[in-house]
Amino acid sequence: MTGSFLTTLDGSSSGVTPIWLMRQAGRYLVEYKAVRNSEPDFISFCLNSDKAVEVTQQPIDKFDFDAAIIFSDILLVPWAMNRNVRFVPGTGPLMDPITAASDFSPNNLDLIGSKLSPVGEAIQKCRAGLANKKALLGFAGAPWTIITYLIEGQSSRDFANARKWLWHNDRQIEELMDTVIEATVRFLEIQARNGADALMLFDSWASAVPADRRDQIVIKPAQKIITELRKRGHQQPVIGFPKGIGEGLLAYCDQVDIAGIGLDHGVDPVWAAKNLPSHITVQGNLDPLSLIDGGEMMKTSISRILDAFADRAHIFNLGHGITPETPVQHVYDLVSQIRGYSA
Ligand code: CP3
Repeated sequence: MTGSFLTTLDGSSSGVTPIWLMRQAGRYLVEYKAVRNSEPDFISFCLNSDKAVEVTQQPIDKFDFDAAIIFSDILLVPWAMNRNVRFVPGTGPLMDPITAASDFSPNNLDLIGSKLSPVGEAIQKCRAGLANKKALLGFAGAPWTIITYLIEGQSSRDFANARKWLWHNDRQIEELMDTVIEATVRFLEIQARNGADALMLFDSWASAVPADRRDQIVIKPAQKIITELRKRGHQQPVIGFPKGIGEGLLAYCDQVDIAGIGLDHGVDPVWAAKNLPSHITVQGNLDPLSLIDGGEMMKTSISRILDAFADRAHIFNLGHGITPETPVQHVYDLVSQIRGYSA
């Protein structure tokens, strides 16, 4: 595949800025909702490879994005390992919180390969149906983000229970971390083996990790995952997304062998352009909420990002997932502004 996405992720700044958006398959699209409503249970939906392929393809057909991201979820990993994950409409994901590391037993690791094989099938079908120049991304949650769900049992405002474990149960955190790392590697391997062109590691709640524990909880686990993938023969470029770690991006970029770094909307693109290592491609970082109003303010914000990254390899994206209330017209506006830009 030699499209602009992979070339840019490889470090070339070719004058064209590739675009894709986190959560580009989602509830802001009526087409998505129609397929989604045909499968009331979210996990069955993710594991129905034909439906997953259909919704993965929708935003590519509609907006001509440069990359598709396989429709799946980071919480399929705890689900596969027998945590009772369910998605409750209006509430989000729920599971019974673990009370000890042994509740997430390494004895269940083999279930990843068997229960998540539909994600591999979806990747194969998707790759076969996509134009050559479009990249297909696979993804997983980074260990800390998965651990927050295991311990909290749901999304959380401040992740107080997970953070308490960091201080109170350090041994158990280490044990849990080892299991989650192996589970994540296996989930990514399924995707790599079946044709994902690049892999993204979502550490959506990295901002909750105290700065002095980032190395142990965010950086080393990400690096271990990449080292394991390489050892097992998978060479796909990886994009790290340690959301909300501010100055911690410097250590992350320095110590994790990533091709790209996802930037959240809290990062000043001018700072990032100047301070992040030039061999790492930057991806981001428009505030997804700017798309709700669109118009001039969104336009100015997009221009500022494009200008800041004009001299380096940059993949345009949002700073987090697109929200359900986003008007589709504003996505068209965003795409046409970026396609019309020349540095
Ligand atoms: O288009 C894409 O980006 C690919 C699909 C994708 C989904 N989840 C589908 C989904 C991706 C990359 C994810 C990752 C994911 N899932 C993350 C990390 C990225 C981030 O946003 O920070 C996290 C934390 C999750 C866990 C998760 N899954 C939550 C918190 C929710 C509920 C959110 C909500 O808005 O209700 C989900 C469900 C989910 N995963 C939806 C989608 C499109 C919405 C549910 C639905 O359609 O019914």
